[in-house]
Order: sequence, then C-alpha cells, then structure tokens
Amino acid sequence: MSNDDEEMVVTPWTVKGKVDYDRLIELFGTERITPELKERMYEVAGEKHFMLDRDLFFSHRDLGWILDEYDKGNKFTLYTGRGPSGQVHIGHLVPWIFTKWMQEKFKARLYFQITNDEKYFFEQDLSLDQVRKLAYDNILDILAVGFEPEDTYVLQDIEHIDLMYEIAVRVAKRVTFSTARAVFGFENSMNIGGIWFPAMQAVPAFIHSWVYGTNTPCIIPCAIDQDPHWRVTRDVAERLGFLKPASIQNRFLPPLTGGSKMSSSEPMSAVLTTDTPKMAKKKVMNAFTGGRDSADEQKRLGANPDVCSVFKYYEFLFMPDDKDLADIEKKCRGGEILCGECKQILAPMMIEFLDKHQAAREDVKDRIHEFSAGRLREDLKR
Ligand code: TYM
Repeated sequence: MSNDDEEMVVTPWTVKGKVDYDRLIELFGTERITPELKERMYEVAGEKHFMLDRDLFFSHRDLGWILDEYDKGNKFTLYTGRGPSGQVHIGHLVPWIFTKWMQEKFKARLYFQITNDEKYFFEQDLSLDQVRKLAYDNILDILAVGFEPEDTYVLQDIEHIDLMYEIAVRVAKRVTFSTARAVFGFENSMNIGGIWFPAMQAVPAFIHSWVYGTNTPCIIPCAIDQDPHWRVTRDVAERLGFLKPASIQNRFLPPLTGGSKMSSSEPMSAVLTTDTPKMAKKKVMNAFTGGRDSADEQKRLGANPDVCSVFKYYEFLFMPDDKDLADIEKKCRGGEILCGECKQILAPMMIEFLDKHQAAREDVKDRIHEFSAGRLREDLKR
C-alpha cells in the first residue's frame, strides 16, 4: 500500500507518498486550470462537467491555445491511453469518462493508445501472451465507456506498428539518453525496450497530422502521472514539423484503503470493473474513512470527509450532482451520519454502476473491429 509518510514520487510507472498536486504543478511546469478556462470549455460544451468544476481536472498545458484554435475553426484531436498490465479499476475510468465528454462536445476524433509493448518491457512477470489477453479485456472496458465508433481509433502498439514506426523513429532520434534518464528516472539496469518506449507514447499525438498531411492540434486528457511523456513529446514536436500537444490532467482517485493512488495489484485497494457485486460491496464496507473512534464521538463532533475515501468516490464518480454531494458532506461533518451508514449508500451505487459497465462490456464484444486504428491504413494509402 502506498504510505503517506514516504517521499512523494510521481512518474508514469510509480506513484508513492502523499501526492501534493500544487507541488506537482511546480515540479512538472504545468499550469493550473483557471475559472476563465473552465468557462470557455463550458461555453463550447453548452454545459458544465463536474470533474472540471470540482478541480478533479486541475492542471493543463496549452488548454487556452487549444480553445483559441477551436474558436478559429481549427478542430483538435483527442489522445489518451492505457497500459494493459492488469484489470482496469474504476480510477482509470476517470480520464476516459471526461475524454468521452470532450469527444461528444467538441466533436473530436479520439486516438486511444494501448501500450502492450510498454507493459511487456516494464512488467518482468508478464508474457506477451498475457499482455495480449489483458489488452483485449481492457479494450472492452474502454469501449464500454461509450466512445463514438466513427470517431475513435484504438491503436495497439504491436499490432499497428506499421502505422507508428516512422513517427517513433523520428522522435527517438531527437531524445538523448541523458534527457530520458533525467525526465523518467531510467536506470542502467533497465532493458533497452523501456528506454525506447517514450518514443512510442509520443506517436499518437502526431499520427493524425502524419496520416492526413495536416497540422492538427491535439489535446491529451490523463492523470498527471503521464506528464513526463508530454514534456519530451512537446520538446521534439516542432523540430519534427508538428504542433506541440496540449494536455488536461486529473488527480488520482485514491484507494479505498487510504493513501494516494490505487493499484490493480493490491486487490482490496481498487474496485475493478469486473468485480462481482459481493466483492465490490466487501471493498466498500472495508474502506478507510474519516470517522471517529466511537459512534458517540462521531455524533457529537462529526467526521472528516477531507480524508475519507468513501467521500472521494462520491466526489469523483458517484455524485455528479453538487447538491447531493453537499448534502452528504454536511451530514458527515455534522455527525448526522455514521461511516457504516455512508458506506451502505455507496455500495448499491457502486454495484449499479458496475452492473451497467459490465453489460456495456458484453455489448461491445462483437464490435471491437469497428474501433480499430487499422482503418488508418486505407487513409494513408490515399
Ligand atoms: P495506465 O494504464 O497506467 O492508466 C490509464 C489512465 O488512467 C490514469 N490513472 C488514473 N486516473 C485517476 N485515478 C487513478 N487512480 C488513476 N490511475 C491511473 C492514467 O493517468 C492514464 O490516463 N503509459 C500509459 C498508457 C498511455 C497513455 C497515453 C495514458 C499511452 N498513451 C496517453 C494517457 C494518455 C499507462 O500505462 O496508463
């Protein structure tokens, strides 16, 4: 489990310690999303999105520029991804749900990268066969979010390498090992596949412009852990004749067990999208909360939603309505509700959510090919 007393480390492969998001903005050199930028997003979208409104998406690179271009009639592409190292947990769904909203509101094409190569390079115990199975399973979760088939291109690094390789080699030639080591913390003991891999994660930011011979802006919604990739990608973009990709970055949905970031490899910390109702309920009922030692004390003094993982789940996914969230917060702080009761509210919400998601996973099983980036091969020939 991540230990809050540890020093904070946030890289694309490791998140440790208590995550200080203000500090990350400084360290990574990103910018905070201002109220003005939110308003501009809402103007185009015609509605608010709770993840933006609550600062769950809190940081960005060049979001203002993307909106300027959009205003001028220059549409952008969206790019996000998944490294198939295990089952998808509901934290992963946070950037994907927001990406779907952006796709719908901005009528944007989405490139969704599946980095099967990455997980083979970085996870010692995974065979390529296992990664392939996980990729298939994870794609069901991705498509279950409800992306628009016509506007969604799922790129799998190994399967679609013919579409990606030329861009990757152009990127790789312009990134030195010393930059990669400084940005990603690579060590000499690593296999050289891992050192090459950032070139592959840069590719989807440019693929649209490359295939169609345009100069199309791109924005990447993801959690802040992926930002080191965008630093490198942005650094090489102009030298390759492409625009720098923008990004919009979310906080981590914390583990139910407390701490900063949940992990599929710690079973009780993360609710997996494939969990049974019984398992999901068990995880919720065992969750870390901001409760007091006794019911009496809690009724007298109230509890603390700021540190409570159950409250975070309401905030990130299960209570998009601000009134509902404010109501439960008030009851919690005022000692009107005990943690056991609060968990009994979350559990059926979680079960219903998983039930719908699992049904959607079944529905997309026969339709995966409709989303394949293999379609780009036709366009490239033209
Ligand atoms: P991966 O598979 O680790 O994570 C997938 C996406 O989920 C975000 N994320 C979270 N968001 C909220 N709460 C959490 N607890 C949480 N944990 C992870 C990640 O930031 C990511 O957006 N190398 C990448 C795959 C990738 C990618 C991309 C991701 C390739 N291209 C472009 C984002 C954008 C990876 O292994 O992500």
